[in-house]
Amino acid sequence: MKNILITGGAGFIGSHLVRHMVHKYPDYQIINLDLLTYAGNLENLKDIENLPNYTFVKADICDEAAIESVFTRFDINGVIHLAAESHVDRSITDPMSFVRTNVIGTVNLLNTAKKHWAGRDDVRFYHVSTDEVYGSLHDGGFFVETTPYDPQSPYSASKASSDHFVRAYGNTYKFPFVMSNCSNNYGPYQFPEKLLPLFIANIVKEKPLPVYGQGINVRDWLWVEDHAKAIDLIFHQGKEGETYNIGGNNEWRNIDLIHLLCKVMDKKLGRETGSAAKLITYVTDRAGHDMRYAIDASKLTNELGWEPSLQFEEGLEKTVDWYLANAEWIARVQSGAYQNYYLQQYGERY
Ligand code: NAD
Ligand code: TYD
Repeated sequence: MKNILITGGAGFIGSHLVRHMVHKYPDYQIINLDLLTYAGNLENLKDIENLPNYTFVKADICDEAAIESVFTRFDINGVIHLAAESHVDRSITDPMSFVRTNVIGTVNLLNTAKKHWAGRDDVRFYHVSTDEVYGSLHDGGFFVETTPYDPQSPYSASKASSDHFVRAYGNTYKFPFVMSNCSNNYGPYQFPEKLLPLFIANIVKEKPLPVYGQGINVRDWLWVEDHAKAIDLIFHQGKEGETYNIGGNNEWRNIDLIHLLCKVMDKKLGRETGSAAKLITYVTDRAGHDMRYAIDASKLTNELGWEPSLQFEEGLEKTVDWYLANAEWIARVQSGAYQNYYLQQYGERY
């Protein structure tokens, strides 16, 4: 029997992971702890909310008493930690909320787990991180697990800091952890501030598609369910104290990806070819915009046998189909307080 605390389970990747875990491990208790910030949405988990091995707790990972009480109440013996502020653009306008959740929240979880797990060997803390901690690649080459950290945005600096704390607890207190650093995820339930869901929503409404700079930055894209499967594998079979890079082996220049998306959207919406591409609008570049991320995931493939399952073109079509079928979901997460926040921060783009 395992009692696993998944933090950030109402967010994009977290909701896919929670769904995967409750279905695959009916003997585990999965406790989803989430503050339900603008990015967290319980609608993402409607289909599993009544399953007997699933519990939701609304709490802030920075709240010592709340985390303490969850560990006691559920006798937690595994943590998979995803709760975070996750959007680079927001980290540029409000870095302190990233320090608070990503750094202080992570250390708070580490402290509580360390205290409850003293003397136990059936426990494990899994820290979910990003490839952005490695910084920006300017030519060939890939991030490997030993690439030195060189974070360039307030978001990646806060994630790098949390990664360092996890490793420091492993080194100092022999705290049992595993970690992974993953590339850009895509798929259903991603908040429409990130590139793909934002552009899908804008194309439907025939609003401009704001391409930062010249659109030549490169990202590696991974189907979100493949990330969830990798996390499951590493949680159960990864070596203690090790880090695994996870990536899709699927690099795209933003502008090429956007043109492909436009083509798919024209087809799905029955619009004339070239309609969506007319919405492309080059805007001022993101401050400090990382040029390229690319992951070498061969450690994960060679040691644990993981590989991405989905071809990108297929995954993109599935993603578009989901957002088109769930226009109400987009409208709801973009409405009310969220919308006011976006309008205030970024103007009409959202
Ligand atoms: P997300 O923004 O969609 O979800 C984050 C979740 O954390 C939300 O449900 C939110 O309510 C919750 N949360 C935020 N602050 C909290 C707090 N103080 N206490 C409790 N819950 C809180 O993020 P995501 O894209 O699903 O990313 C999840 C994790 O994976 C993050 O740690 C992120 O750094 C990492 N990651 C993301 C990507 C990606 O492409 N999205 C890639 C690699 C790694
Ligand atoms: P994003 O989805 O924010 O992820 P990340 O910054 O973590 O990689 O952005 C993906 C890429 O798309 C990144 O190079 C920035 C670019 N981008 C735009 O050009 N316009 C946009 O409106 C957004 C949100 C992103």
